[in-house]
Amino acid sequence: MEELTLADTNGIAILVPGALHAHAAKRIDERFRLIAIDKADASLVTPEIARDVRGVASMTSINAAFIDALPNLEVIAHFGVGYDSVDAAHAGRRDVMVTNTPDVLTDEVADTAVALLINTLRELPKAEAWLREGRWEREGGYRFSRGSLRGRRVGIFGMGRIGQAIARRLEGFGLPIAYHNRRQVEGVPYAYHDSLLGLAGAVDTLINVAPGGASTARAVNAEVLRALGADGVLVNIGRGSTVDQEALIAALADGTIFAAGLDVFADEPHVPEALLALENTSLLPHIGSASVATREAMADLLADNLVAWFTDGKPLTPVAETVHVSR
Ligand code: NAP
Ligand code: 8YV
Repeated sequence: MEELTLADTNGIAILVPGALHAHAAKRIDERFRLIAIDKADASLVTPEIARDVRGVASMTSINAAFIDALPNLEVIAHFGVGYDSVDAAHAGRRDVMVTNTPDVLTDEVADTAVALLINTLRELPKAEAWLREGRWEREGGYRFSRGSLRGRRVGIFGMGRIGQAIARRLEGFGLPIAYHNRRQVEGVPYAYHDSLLGLAGAVDTLINVAPGGASTARAVNAEVLRALGADGVLVNIGRGSTVDQEALIAALADGTIFAAGLDVFADEPHVPEALLALENTSLLPHIGSASVATREAMADLLADNLVAWFTDGKPLTPVAETVHVSR
């Protein structure tokens, strides 16, 4: 394929529906013709946008109707490694490339997962609040935490890039590790369970870092939580859709499991009152990858994918559903 010069990409229209990381928008604006619309809604696609747009840069949901409203669309560059909010299967059928932002966030998200696990067990945010409210001086030391990382057996649901990074960290904490994926991962030394229920029955600490989507929807259900048991801790750093949130609230309230640490929720940014009211939860507003440096690296990878697509037709990180797509 013929190499394009820098100037050649300037006229290519890239549609940005809704919010996008500012650094990604700047990179796109420098190299392409950026067109912004309020949201990814097919009814907002004007005849000019339909005619001109060859790329989409998204941090939001992209459905089949939106893809179909853009007949000259070639590539959707998504901000995030998880792309369950993009209809990638439909894009693949329409010969539209989809890219995501793997690897550059792996260590950041794994660090957050371990911190969330420790916060959940050792109540560090609550202990800090105790100090800041002046209660240490007035009332004495914060209570001893009932939870501890010591002696725990960890199960990882989703032993991919981030799952393996979490496992490596927890090995350093001296904890035994097991996992469930649809397939056993070659070269990974941890015990494999061919069902999530089997994994939950074998451990007391379940860390969910599986992707969202139909194959994982509400996979962590009441039965899995019962199998995890009364000492059980669930950490969810994957997607809220993979947990039956009502079943989780019931299990936390009646002692079926001990505690939960959640970075992701079923209907973000809404967090149910029941989860907020529970003492045995540690809750974060989906900040797994949210450091300045990591979000900027994700923004660069999104922009680099667009540049790579439009200069040599080879995106850096295509998703599985669209690897067959070529320019
Ligand atoms: P990855 O390397 O693709 O790993 C995903 C793993 O999940 C794979 O090993 C896959 O193995 C397994 N899996 C997929 N579907 C499954 C199913 N139905 N049942 C059992 N296992 C299944 O992805 P990653 O980079 O580690 O990212 C994982 C997820 O983390 C993302 O998709 C995203 O949802 C989430 N995430 C959250 C944050 C945050 O801020 N909280 C940040 C980044 C990522 P098999 O295909 O062999 O089953
Ligand atoms: C981001 C994430 O918060 O990469 C993912 O899958 O969930 C996070 O890194 C999200 O993508 C920002 O839109």
